[in-house]
Amino acid sequence: MNSLASPSPATASRSETLSGSVRVPGDKSISHRSFMFGGLAAGETRITGLLEGEDVLRTGEAMKAMGARIEKADGEWIIQGVGNGCLLEPVAPLDFGNAGTGARLTMGLVGTYDMATTFVGDASLSKRPMGRVLDPLREMGMQVVSAADGGRLPLTLRGPKRAAPISYRVPMASAQVKSAVLLAALNTPGITTVIEPIMTRDHTEKMLAGFGAELEVETDAEGVRHIRIQGEGRLSGQTIAVPGDPSSAAFPLVAALIVPGSDVTIENVLMNPTRTGLIDTLMEMGGNIEVINRRDAGGEEVADLRVRHSDLSGVTVPPARAPFMIDEYPVLAVAASFAQGETVMDGLDELRVKESDRLAAVARGLEANGVDCTEGEASLTVRGRPGGKGLGGGTVETHLDHRIAMSFLVMGLAAEKPVTVDDRGMVATSFPEFFDLMAGLGAQID
Ligand code: S3P
Repeated sequence: MNSLASPSPATASRSETLSGSVRVPGDKSISHRSFMFGGLAAGETRITGLLEGEDVLRTGEAMKAMGARIEKADGEWIIQGVGNGCLLEPVAPLDFGNAGTGARLTMGLVGTYDMATTFVGDASLSKRPMGRVLDPLREMGMQVVSAADGGRLPLTLRGPKRAAPISYRVPMASAQVKSAVLLAALNTPGITTVIEPIMTRDHTEKMLAGFGAELEVETDAEGVRHIRIQGEGRLSGQTIAVPGDPSSAAFPLVAALIVPGSDVTIENVLMNPTRTGLIDTLMEMGGNIEVINRRDAGGEEVADLRVRHSDLSGVTVPPARAPFMIDEYPVLAVAASFAQGETVMDGLDELRVKESDRLAAVARGLEANGVDCTEGEASLTVRGRPGGKGLGGGTVETHLDHRIAMSFLVMGLAAEKPVTVDDRGMVATSFPEFFDLMAGLGAQID
């Protein structure tokens, strides 16, 4: 497995024009859920376009350990699910590696089963807070048998004989917490309600409804979402085509914007409005991004993005947009480093608890490469240098965080001096094709 035990650095250098047409791998959020819901639902689920990154494959292994049959044939993943309520007790700990989504959603999935499940992960995942998921699950009857300090991994859960439905107001903007409660509700009698004051990505709601769950969403006058789900219903296998991940598209997209003369098309990108905050922001900065061929793909909107080099200007990003681009701030900070003027990003509290403390990791990486920036408690301000003059020359600590690695490699493609990241290994968790795809566009990364 990838770890800092054997770090493998990578260096990106100023590149000639980037050009070409690419497809990024499948959306990570939808891929995790495809394995989970397919493994749970009765009958067969067939998945194309799945992200075959380490994070998602671990979710597949976890579902297999709980009774699902999963195999790949002719580029398609075929799952025989166990049926709702019929997961088996895993005989060994479930190892989620680097994946917060896999671990937290699976805690919800098993949290209302009368069985013991042990969760382990890598050094990054073992530092991340799990209390945000354990708290509502405890209200439903789940017991935390053991956990590391602060409710962290490794931890062992045991569900109750019969779970209690709850009404839960999600205290932070987190799709993972919302999803964990909704998944726990699947094996709980009666109606569970999740109240979501700040909307986050809605893949769980949409996909569960597609698998046949009785679920309704109502948005009240204050814009608060009330998601009601009836437990113990039947879920049936589905056919899923996973669209391209906008969070991965973000890397070639920003690269094309900052490398002079570039003209890149990224095909089949998910355009779900809870995921397009980065595109909106880059357009406000003056980014030349053409959204073409918008179409429906199995209940989700997708489009092709034609991106050309642009002179960017700093903006103030509305904090309310944060949930719709939460994973994209590191690469936005890189784009901002090449913009005229100041870019202000606020409302970034959740960045502190990602695969790394991303706010600190980005600020240190920018500083190491000559970017003038200010890190606040929950904010980041970047003062850019158009043309990348004087930028680069530093080494960035990635802290086992794939998005920190990819973001700073993108910076190196347009900075005056090369940018090195201390470890390329974690890129495989979400975007195994990154290096080949970027090289195909003309990027110099060694
Ligand atoms: C995800 C939710 C987000 C996001 C993560 C994927 C999901 O995490 O950062 O990469 O698939 O539900 P939070 O729920 O912690 O915001």
